[in-house]
Amino acid sequence: MRIILLGPPGVGKGTQASLIAKGFNIPKISTGDMLRDAIAKGSAIGKKVHDIMERGDYVSEEIIEELITKRLKSGDCKEGYLFDGFPRTMSQIKFLEKNDIHIDYVIEIKVPEEEIISRLSGRRIHIKSGRVYHIKNNPPKVDGIDDITKEPLTHRNDDKPETIKTRLTVYKQQTEPLVDYYKQQHAMNTLTYFTVDGNQDTEAVYKDIEHRLKARNKTNTSYL
Ligand code: AP5
Repeated sequence: MRIILLGPPGVGKGTQASLIAKGFNIPKISTGDMLRDAIAKGSAIGKKVHDIMERGDYVSEEIIEELITKRLKSGDCKEGYLFDGFPRTMSQIKFLEKNDIHIDYVIEIKVPEEEIISRLSGRRIHIKSGRVYHIKNNPPKVDGIDDITKEPLTHRNDDKPETIKTRLTVYKQQTEPLVDYYKQQHAMNTLTYFTVDGNQDTEAVYKDIEHRLKARNKTNTSYL
């Protein structure tokens, strides 16, 4: 099963990606996590993308293609995987097509913009694992500390109010147009595209996604 999770910053893609990965036993491939890890390690890619990500812009297609190509060669990707935050541009969709990578599901998570801003302002992350918390909605057991490793949590540099605005604008300009493309693909039965109401608690959002994925063998022509 190959899945794409789509939606603006802060709708809960990373949170749901972890639950789907566990529930369906497929790896989560998050380009955002890979880029943050590269920055934390001070690698050549990390140095190139640091300022771009801090501004809230998208990094170059070449870097994303390099990361994805390398990641898909891992043995754990043989039975499927879940893309979180990729593809984000038409050019990245073309890259998948060029490499004969067929997608089964595109799941778009929808949340009102005011909720997005509150979620991102209160988010805390554990960089190495990609584990995500929220100071009110999903707090760690000990304030500021990762539950598993007991290492300190971080407030992402791109979660500042002015950068959140830039990220939402970049999403609208560069990624939202992909929705029409996926709707067309759905109409042609090339893949299944559906939307999920992300403005419910985490468990309820996951239940909706799980239900739609498990109903995959049944005839389903609606994506709403
Ligand atoms: P990336 O890391 O992918 O960020 P994003 O798409 O902006 O999404 P976020 O991680 O901000 O949010 P999310 O939807 O995963 O929400 P989360 O689950 O954390 O990308 C970062 C940057 O990397 C980009 O700006 C770009 O520069 C670069 N990049 C990455 N991929 C790229 C690509 N393909 N091409 C070019 N550049 C790329 O949840 C948010 C908060 O809400 C958390 O605190 C969480 O606990 C809370 N929460 C989650 N669900 C709920 C719920 N149901 N109810 C209440 N709270 C909730």
